Amino acid sequence: MNNAFVIFGATGDLTHRKLMPAFYNLAHEGNIPENFAIVAVGRRDYDTEKYARLVKESIARHSRFSLKEDIWERLKERIRYFRFNFLHDDYCRLAEYLREIDAEAQTGGNRIYYLAVAPEHFATIVANLKKKCLRTNGGHSRCMIEKPFGSDLRTAKELNDQITAVFSEKNIFRIDHYLGKEMFQNIMAIRFANAIFEPLLNRDHVEQVQILSAETRGVGARGHYYDNAGEIRDMIQSHLLQLISLIAMERPAEFSDQEIRDEKVKVLRALRRYSPDEVARYVVRGQYGVGDDALAYRDEVNVDKNSPTETFVAMKLFIENDRWRGVPFYLRSGKRMPVKATEIIIEFKNAAYRGINAKNNILVIKIQPEEGVFLRFNAKEIGARHNIIPVKMDFCQNCEIGFNSPEAYEKLLLDAMRGEATLFARWDEVEAAWEFVDTIREAWKNDVPPFPNYRPGAWGPAEAERIVAADGKKWLVLQGGENEDL
Ligand code: BG6
Repeated sequence: MNNAFVIFGATGDLTHRKLMPAFYNLAHEGNIPENFAIVAVGRRDYDTEKYARLVKESIARHSRFSLKEDIWERLKERIRYFRFNFLHDDYCRLAEYLREIDAEAQTGGNRIYYLAVAPEHFATIVANLKKKCLRTNGGHSRCMIEKPFGSDLRTAKELNDQITAVFSEKNIFRIDHYLGKEMFQNIMAIRFANAIFEPLLNRDHVEQVQILSAETRGVGARGHYYDNAGEIRDMIQSHLLQLISLIAMERPAEFSDQEIRDEKVKVLRALRRYSPDEVARYVVRGQYGVGDDALAYRDEVNVDKNSPTETFVAMKLFIENDRWRGVPFYLRSGKRMPVKATEIIIEFKNAAYRGINAKNNILVIKIQPEEGVFLRFNAKEIGARHNIIPVKMDFCQNCEIGFNSPEAYEKLLLDAMRGEATLFARWDEVEAAWEFVDTIREAWKNDVPPFPNYRPGAWGPAEAERIVAADGKKWLVLQGGENEDL
């Protein structure tokens, strides 16, 4: 746990909005180790005092706990600002400074380098970290790296080669912040700590699985990045495929980081790779136009006026293995949707009873904003007649007043300090996810739909309906209450 935590990009948005508030929350919970220092590396002409003042403001604004002076003062003592241009300055100067910090904070030479910078700088920084002067006598050297990890399989491989030339796989912590979410971790507990769900999660009992990730906001200030990414790379390649792999994987022989990730990657490899014809049939793209009080995507800052980038994707997927063969998995992810909701909806097959056409059972794992589990099952209606009606049980773990779920980054920072890798994406997972997404993007290349094709606040383009309608199904959504009997 003793570490010097070196943040590249210390004056950036991610550090201020997520990392520093997460460190503060960890301090609040008593989870900051004794021998620990944060070295904030930035280009701006600040000193530690000035930097700390700005960090304090960010913590007051973004932390889930209100700021308490004594906790802040103790955290502040660990923070040092180091003015450094990571593109041009000499990394041996940084090395020298880190040696002083190692001695002062007694970190045992353990270091974590956090790359909170634009992806085009990942390779330069990592290549410089290879320098001999940065080696320590003992202690680990770890690297935490934000997404996007490449922009396709080829660039992801290149980046991975550059990183593995400096850090071994066990010291690379590829961040996908969804893995740090409370309910993401809970999926495994719900599946494997209960006798009542797991035996039913297979082709014999499941009619369909839908995964929804809806955001009400647009791309905001991130137009430059997003216009080169689009929804399929920004959300599906990372967060949604991670959700699928966790809900669909086999029970690992042991719940170790290796075995859990071995099982997850098998799911990603079992996803059917589509031909161009299948892409046309099973995948629909959308882009938001202008709304009553929302800009059209193409009018957002730093977005091309004729942008072909999608802000919505609906698709059907197949997992070609014995457990799931034939079960459709539908996926919907988009910006400027009617609600903010992430959930996994599992519909079970019909259970015939006395010739009554009862509704299918539905299990929903609510990832956010509510965290919990919803179950719809059938029971007899009160009264003399033998009517069957659907009834509901709804467990919400963050609805209690005063309940305050840890932020994803808290868990991820803590795990990286401990060297616990389960909640980070291993290279073979990233690779398999890119393989899947690349085939779709390849098929899209020469053909842009008539964008924009949905209004802000709609569930994507009308065409998205055909993905489920072709199988006689409807899109389902629990949070936001659109499907009246969910
Ligand atoms: C990020 C994407 O990884 O996740 C953003 O780059 C997206 O485009 C965000 O808005 C969603 O995260 P959350 O935690 O708000 O669901």
